[in-house]
Amino acid sequence: MAAEKPLVAITCTAPTNIAVIKYWGKRDEKLILPINSSLSVTLHQNQLKTTTTAAISRDFKEDRIWLNGKEEDVGHPRLQSCLREIRRLARKRRSGSDGESVPLSYKVHIASVNDFPTAAGLASSAAGYACLVYTLAQLYGVENELSEVARQGSGSACRSMLGGFVQWHMGERPDGKDSIAQQVAPESHWPELRVLILVVSAERKLVASTAGMQTSVETSSLLKFRAESVVPGRMAEMVQCIKEQDFEGFGQLTMKDSNQFHATCLDTFPPICYLNDTSRQIIGLVHRFNAHYGKTKVAYTFDAGPNAVIFTLEDTVNEFVAVIKQIFPPEMNGDKFLKGLPVEPVELSEELKSALAMEPSPGQIKYIITTQVGPGPQVLEDPQQQLLGSDGLPKLAS
Ligand code: DP6
Repeated sequence: MAAEKPLVAITCTAPTNIAVIKYWGKRDEKLILPINSSLSVTLHQNQLKTTTTAAISRDFKEDRIWLNGKEEDVGHPRLQSCLREIRRLARKRRSGSDGESVPLSYKVHIASVNDFPTAAGLASSAAGYACLVYTLAQLYGVENELSEVARQGSGSACRSMLGGFVQWHMGERPDGKDSIAQQVAPESHWPELRVLILVVSAERKLVASTAGMQTSVETSSLLKFRAESVVPGRMAEMVQCIKEQDFEGFGQLTMKDSNQFHATCLDTFPPICYLNDTSRQIIGLVHRFNAHYGKTKVAYTFDAGPNAVIFTLEDTVNEFVAVIKQIFPPEMNGDKFLKGLPVEPVELSEELKSALAMEPSPGQIKYIITTQVGPGPQVLEDPQQQLLGSDGLPKLAS
């Protein structure tokens, strides 16, 4: 008797992304339709990624999910939206074809792990939902409309479905069919671009993005002005800067847009303050560094937390990291302070040191991750990397 294959499993990875024109505010909470378009840079998965295994078996009794080894409620509405949508697309694709593909009636087990702190303003929900949707799509053989599905998990997740530089068109339709992600340029387009993540705190954020942006939409007139009158022009300008590899324009617009996003947070009532003293010190430091050179050599952006993301070019990485180490000397773990791409030590000139005009604040930055622009989600072929064992349970679970 031929034994039926007990379990079909697929494992994929997906990247985080950092917005340079920020998404903040929804016009439809359920479908996750934004009040403005946004644009982001996909970060390389060699440094930051989510890995997800999805498996189906006729032995599974119910859909189940484990995040970082801990079982979570599979009934979460956003998770349910993604599962339902992928199964709907699979059904649509199959009607008409003879099905050698996996049975849609079987239950699914999903295990997902992040290799970076969850919910610390490091876009973990973006990588998480992008990975979930991509993995389920591989499992069920669905190819199209994936950014629309990921968007229903978390808005920013739709941008993590593609590599390089990605815009999320806000769209106009009430059903969200035109609220989708599109690549502006691939990851190979601007090879000198580097990204430094300055981790100020790996704690969970105080006000989650979803709740924060809801209050902003309800109370901030600045946010309404931004969405209607500022972002459309900035989107066009940003696309142009990226196409021309114009770091001066890219960096300035990135900083202005981050500042305006945090201004709308302060204009929200009650106000939301994601930046802390260290974030503000980093902002000052970046402006003094640029002023010293008379041009924009580094640019900051902050999401819903105090961690800074710095954009710069390859030739400035070593020096700017030396500046950070000078002003924020590592308190402990000196050898673990620098993660990611290699950084060489350099001596800072006395002129630069005096231009920075700041007393050192030891320990304020916990560590730095150096990374670059990267590709979209990937399938892992090696079965060793599966997160679910042959029993359909997480290998990592305690
Ligand atoms: C500040 O995508 O996390 O990072 O759609 O409610 O899940 P939901 O929100 P989320 O918001 C991200 C906000 C941001 C800006 C951005 O990434 O564009």
